[in-house]
Amino acid sequence: MTAENQKDKKVIFSGMQPSGNITLGNYLGALKNWTKLQDEYNCVFCIVDLHALTVRQDPAELRRRSREVLMLYIAAGLDPEKNIIYYQSHVGAHAELAWILNCYTYMGELNRMTQFKEKSQKHSENINAGLFTYPVLMAADILLYQANLVPVGNDQSQHLELCRDVAIRFNNLYGETFIVPEGYFPKVGARIMSLQDPTKKMSKSDENENSYITLLDSPDTILRKIKKAVTDSEAKIAYRDEQPGIKNLLNIYCSITEEPIEKVVERFSSLGYGELKAKVAEVVVEELRPIQERFYQLEKDKSYIDSIIKNNAERASRIAYKTLSKVQRKIGLPAKIR
Ligand code: AMP
Ligand code: TRP
Repeated sequence: MTAENQKDKKVIFSGMQPSGNITLGNYLGALKNWTKLQDEYNCVFCIVDLHALTVRQDPAELRRRSREVLMLYIAAGLDPEKNIIYYQSHVGAHAELAWILNCYTYMGELNRMTQFKEKSQKHSENINAGLFTYPVLMAADILLYQANLVPVGNDQSQHLELCRDVAIRFNNLYGETFIVPEGYFPKVGARIMSLQDPTKKMSKSDENENSYITLLDSPDTILRKIKKAVTDSEAKIAYRDEQPGIKNLLNIYCSITEEPIEKVVERFSSLGYGELKAKVAEVVVEELRPIQERFYQLEKDKSYIDSIIKNNAERASRIAYKTLSKVQRKIGLPAKIR
């Protein structure tokens, strides 16, 4: 059974930018949860390469990373036949619907987006229009597939709210056109923090490599980075906001083992910080080991990956263009002559 022919199932859409190495934050906040949804829902997972253009990219690196992310999706357990896994840029309807939705989104709404504010501070030399309308393209991504649920980390909740507002506005103007999607936020692991500054989220664009773990980091690197993780001088293992470094390590541990936090805090209460770090590193290494093995296997199979890229772009296009045509018709664009 594939995504298209299970009409009774709800649709899930999510995406990730190929703008850097996928981090443990992306994995625990997004990817790992996605793998659990693939049986219950019709899932569409996109590599949002057009979104990545909102900050300057090295062309060869962007191409390499896009393929790497696609292979990591599969290596992490997303079945490319059950789910639709594809590049955003291979389905022209995303950019087309984004343009239309730009005309139904207010400057004031976009001005309020905290990610825009953060990114324009960080890239003050390149505050481009794409960065500003980023959430509109994201709304187009989601609405094209008539998604019911969008699993993302908490950092994306504002963008999702905007998507819902635009969908509702459009439906009110033209009649039911889009499904209004709901966010789907993980409880544990929703926000994995930087290992070097546990008050900031772990991000692949951080300059300090020690602040994040990537899915392809070697066991030695993982151990080294976790050992260097910033903690505190309380010398007590507790899960509380006053000890953000320890809290983050416990979050990482529990999102991997899926144990309740309280149980783990109790079990580890007599450990020193060094011992806690060793435990965390161990579960991270073991979690990533099979993913890395699978990834390096897939990397060798160029024609298999190429066929996935081609087939999935076609599957995605069929769904996306259906919605786009409906929208074009409703707003009064002239019908194509066939
Ligand atoms: P991005 O890397 O910004 O494209 O994010 C891809 C997905 O990973 C989104 O669903 C984010 O919410 C999620 N994500 C990114 N960073 C983190 C983090 N540090 N902790 C948890 N989830 C994250
Ligand atoms: N903006 C999302 C992020 O940075 C990535 C994204 C783009 C996305 N389009 C999407 C996520 C559609 C979910 C649905 O994490």
